[in-house]
Amino acid sequence: MNAPLPRYSRITGTGSYLPPNRLTNDDLAAQLAKDGIETSDHWIVERTGIRARHFAAPEVCCSDLALVAAQRALEAADCDAASIDLIIVATSTPDMVFPSTACLLQQKLGVHGCAAFDVQAVCSGFVYALTVADSMIRTGAARKALVIGAEVFSRILDFTDRTTCVLFGDGAGAVVLEASDTPGVLATELHADGRHVNILCVPGTVSGGKVLGDPLLKMDGQAVFKLAVGVLEDVARSVIEKAGRTADDVDWLIPHQANIRILQSTTKRLKMPLDKLIITVDQHGNTSAASIPLALDEGVRGGKIKPGDSLLLAGVGGGFTWGAVLLDL
Ligand code: UT7
Repeated sequence: MNAPLPRYSRITGTGSYLPPNRLTNDDLAAQLAKDGIETSDHWIVERTGIRARHFAAPEVCCSDLALVAAQRALEAADCDAASIDLIIVATSTPDMVFPSTACLLQQKLGVHGCAAFDVQAVCSGFVYALTVADSMIRTGAARKALVIGAEVFSRILDFTDRTTCVLFGDGAGAVVLEASDTPGVLATELHADGRHVNILCVPGTVSGGKVLGDPLLKMDGQAVFKLAVGVLEDVARSVIEKAGRTADDVDWLIPHQANIRILQSTTKRLKMPLDKLIITVDQHGNTSAASIPLALDEGVRGGKIKPGDSLLLAGVGGGFTWGAVLLDL
């Protein structure tokens, strides 16, 4: 007889990693000034809340950052890599065109055999990956998953474009998600609207042994900003309602960390107090798919987020994509 399906998936460990090279706004401004690009700590802090970001060394790949975050999550979950039966890496800055960063990570973890694949939903990537892993666990396709968001956005930044290059950073965050009869992930929801593909994109591609088109990030910041605040509020309300909860029941709001103004506006629109908001954008910049699991891990390790707390994760980004996960830790 088949074992009964688990009612829930549950996070049993978190981990994260930031590459050691930390640049403050002043450091970055000084670097850009050498090429005649003007920016300032004042502008960046006022418009975004960002004070510093980390950049990976040239020889360090996405899977290297993912590996350390994954090892830390496995340790926190008291779990051996060999017992993992699913690896999902959310990234838009993979090591290679293929194989997937998840397969490269599996090799670096020294395990083999389990399912491993990447999810590409840009800054919503971690919420997408967590939703897929939750669904696979609840349908019995996996019992213990490593879900990771990892990015080296510094590789796709145009350092002659001050409107984008000051915003992003590198890093990785990971969780171990296990089958459980106690909550757990309570509600998930994902969306995309391909009508907005052009407002945030890296339009280049590889063809015939050459890079065709522009392989650097382009963003219409104001268009992204306007869409982001609306969809984050809607999807957050929707998962709260699906779970039969209210915004008051949420202990911590962990949105994608793109801009402090978006984070604060989303919190206010949800009528949640600002002290329930986890903020890491000030120290990390926007790390795309890595930002939510990085913020989650910092909240846990810093002692703010405690076992049993109710967490609302909400992502938004290129595609245009957005989604949310409500869970009890
Ligand atoms: O991860 C996916 C989600 N991404 C986001 O959520 C990003 C959303 N968008 C944003 O966060 C904001 O739109 C930005 C931070 C990107 C830009 O802020 P803004 O308040 O919309 O500024 P703006 O684009 O309207 O630019 C205002 C001024 C311009 O100068 P003028 O035309 O007023 O003379 C820009 O040229 O600021 C200038 N500017 C800068 N000045 C100094 C733009 N970038 C810089 C810079 N340093 N780095």
